[in-house]
Amino acid sequence: MATNSVALLILALLSICIGSVLADWNILNQIKSNSNSLKNYCESWRINVEVNNIREFDVVPQECINHIKKYMTSAQYIADSERSIEEIRLYLTSCCSLQADGKDAWIFDVDDTLLSTIPYYKKHAFGGEKVNASSLEAWMKSSKAPGLEHTLSLFNEIKNKGVKIFLVSSRRETLRSNTVDNLIDVGYHGWTGLQLRGLEDEHMKVQQYKCEQRKRLVNNGYRIWGILGDQWSSIQGLPTAKRTFKLPNSMYYIS
Ligand SMILES: *[C@@H]1O[C@H](CO)[C@@H](O)[C@H](O)[C@H]1NC(C)=O
Repeated sequence: MATNSVALLILALLSICIGSVLADWNILNQIKSNSNSLKNYCESWRINVEVNNIREFDVVPQECINHIKKYMTSAQYIADSERSIEEIRLYLTSCCSLQADGKDAWIFDVDDTLLSTIPYYKKHAFGGEKVNASSLEAWMKSSKAPGLEHTLSLFNEIKNKGVKIFLVSSRRETLRSNTVDNLIDVGYHGWTGLQLRGLEDEHMKVQQYKCEQRKRLVNNGYRIWGILGDQWSSIQGLPTAKRTFKLPNSMYYIS
C-alpha cells in the first residue's frame, strides 16, 4: 500500500516536471523570451533555405525581414560570396581537360549572380513582400542593377581560359536589350550566349527551362564544366555540369 502511494507521488511529480519542460520547448515562448532566440530562429531559417531544406517560400517570414536585410547587406554576405568564387578558382586549377576546340562551356545565372537585385528588394522588404512581377520587371528595364564584383573577376578569368560563357536567366525575352545594356554597363562582355525565357518557355517551371537550355548545349557538343547560380533551380536537374556552385540568396526562391 505504502509503496503504491509513493509511486503515485513520484508519478505526479514527474508529470509536473515534464509539463514545465514541454512548456519551455514551445518555440513561440522561446522566440518571445529574448531577441537572441529570434536571431537563432531566423539564422536557421536562412541556412535551411540555402541548403534547400526550405523550398518554394513565397515571402521571407515577417519576423525575419530584419535579419535577412542585415545579412544581405552585410560584409558576411560578401565574404560568403567571395568564398564560393574562391572554391571555383580552386576547382578550375585541376578540374577540367580543356580542349581549346571552342566546346568548353561555363554557365552563369544573371540576377544575384552577375547583377544584384538588392537595390530593388531594399524597397520591397528584402523578400518580405510577395514578388510583384510587373514592378520587378519595370526595375529591370531601368538597367540599373549593380554588378557583383566578385563574380565579374571570375567571369573574366573563365573567359580568358578560352571557355565559352553562357548566361541562362529566367528573365523574359522582352527584357533582352535592357539586360544586355545593364551587363555591359557594369563590365560584363564577351559571353557566347544569353538565354532568356521566350513565350514558349513560360509554361515550364524555371528548373525545367534551364535543363532544356543545358540539353541544347550538350546536344551541340559543349562540355559544361560548371554552373554558378544563386537558385537551386539553376543547378538541379539533368543534364547537369561536372560541378555546380551556389551563391547565397535568402530573399526569394524560384522553382
Ligand atoms: C504591382 O506593381 C505595379 C507597378 O508598380 C502596380 O501598379 C500594381 O498595383 C502592383 N500590384 C500589386 C498586386 O501590388
